[in-house]
Order: sequence, then structure tokens, then C-alpha cells
Amino acid sequence: MLDQFSKTQQQPGVGMFVALSRFTIANDMVDEVRAAFRDRAHLVDHAPGFVGMEVMCPVGDRTEIWLVTHWLDEQSYRSWHRGHEYHESHKGIPKGLKLVPGSAGVQLFEVFAD
Ligand code: HEM
Repeated sequence: MLDQFSKTQQQPGVGMFVALSRFTIANDMVDEVRAAFRDRAHLVDHAPGFVGMEVMCPVGDRTEIWLVTHWLDEQSYRSWHRGHEYHESHKGIPKGLKLVPGSAGVQLFEVFAD
């Protein structure tokens, strides 16, 4: 069973799966978005197969948000993404947030070496 694993027991590595999601903030809400991530719901922490995540911005550009989630496998990511917890997790998106059109997207990766 995947849910016997917890964040503390698993390190990202070969055979795992990564979702890299990003968007660019178009209005003056960078601080609010950063605060929302710091106060995030933490529902995903308990999702089966979840290993860990980081939220980053490129050095010198705080408007771009890059979110990396690490999973044991692709199925774990897809199950969470389909489920209600994904939507619950996004209830804290600041009201009035505007994104640069076309900037939002997610790319999926298999880890083949470390
Ligand atoms: C493109 C539009 C998106 C925006 C504007 C956005 C914004 C946010 C914000 C502000 C939060 C902070 C917490 C909250 O709102 O409750 C959050 C949480 C999160 N988002 Fe997104 N997100 C987007 C897309 C995605 C996608 C495509 C993924 C899939 C990889 C994703 C994965 C997550 C995860 C894992 C969390 C943490 C949830 C938790 O703590 O339970 N987001 N997102």
C-alpha cells in the first residue's frame, strides 16, 4: 500500500514522479500569493504517495510561481489531482488574483537518475 509511506521516510529519487506547475501573477498580489502558500491547507501532505513539495520563484522575478510536487508514482499524483482535496487545497487562492494569460501550466516528469 502506498499510504504506508510518509514524507519523513521517503526521499525524492529514481523511479519517482514530479509535477512542475507554474503561473505568473499579473497584478499586485505577489505577497498575498506567497502568504497563501505559507498558510497552505496541507491536505496534500496526507495524500497517498505524496513525498514533498517546494514553492519557488526565479531569482529576480517574484511574479513567477513554480510549484514542484514529488510523488511515489504518476498514479498517486493523478488520484490526488482528480479528487476533492485538490479543490479544497485551492480554496485559499487570494480573491482578485490575476494571472498572465497563458502562463499557467503543469508538466509531468519521471525521475530516471539521481
Ligand atoms: C494555475 C493555477 C494555480 C494557481 C493560481 C494556484 C495557486 C495556489 C495557491 C495560492 C495555493 C496556496 C494554498 C491555497 O490556496 O489554499 C496552492 C496550493 C497548492 N497547489 Fe496550486 N495553483 C494552481 C495550479 C496548481 C496545479 C496545476 C497543481 C498541480 C501540481 C497545484 C498544486 C498545488 C498544491 C500541491 C498545493 C498545496 C495544497 C495543500 O497544502 O494541501 N496547483 N495553489
